[in-house]
Amino acid sequence: MTTNSVLTPSQISSIYSKRAKHYDKTVRVYNLFGMTLERWRRMAVESLGLRPGDTVVDIACGTGLNFPLFQKKIGPEGKIIGVDMTQAMLDQAAARIEANDWGNVELVRSKADEFEFPTDIDAVFTSYALTLIPEYDEIIKRAARALPEGARFVNLDMKIADSWMSIFAPLLTFLLVRPYAGTLEMGRRRHPWKSVENYMDRVSVRNLYFGFLYIVVGESRGVEERD
Ligand SMILES: C[S@@+](CC[C@H](N)C(=O)[O-])C[C@H]1O[C@@H](n2cnc3c(N)ncnc32)[C@H](O)[C@@H]1O
Repeated sequence: MTTNSVLTPSQISSIYSKRAKHYDKTVRVYNLFGMTLERWRRMAVESLGLRPGDTVVDIACGTGLNFPLFQKKIGPEGKIIGVDMTQAMLDQAAARIEANDWGNVELVRSKADEFEFPTDIDAVFTSYALTLIPEYDEIIKRAARALPEGARFVNLDMKIADSWMSIFAPLLTFLLVRPYAGTLEMGRRRHPWKSVENYMDRVSVRNLYFGFLYIVVGESRGVEERD
């Protein structure tokens, strides 16, 4: 694998199958580079505007690191639907659900582009994943259609800085992104925030970490975006 290749979903899944067991611990290495992934995760979840009783879909949920943050907002009467294609990551998510005795989380093993969004959802979230997924544009379009008017979609993800700082992109990719199946070429070719701008309203993009990360928030146009 090189930093320039674009990996297939099955190559990505096999990387995450190996990483799953220690994923929650190993991602802490980002802190050594001043990347406060957990703080940005909290900021991103905050911008979903969740309320008690809401149903939230977490696309590429991994081991469920977002779930405790959702639970604080939605309470036991709300619902989380976690979607991921890697069984080993979902096994870790299932262990988290059991350890917390949550009765309101549904895990779905599916490629994100094959997942059928239910119609009774209130929010769609995804973190540190969408740039890995070739069909991200279609997924964002379908999320916009599934959500009721004004309901939010939030994506927290990495990207290549659009300033002179981009000279550091190959090094950062090699050290921090490649071990999690990301490549420079993915960052060059895939721009999920532009899809949010295309399919949603009141879109805001907040750059983090010198522009190597961002949170994009969009609101569904509701019926207008549906066929
Ligand atoms: C870096 S992890 C992020 C996990 C979690 N969202 C988080 O914030 O910790 C990327 C996740 O995306 C999942 N993934 C990658 N491509 C996918 C696809 N096409 N469909 C569904 N899940 C996918 C992987 O299995 C992995 O669990």
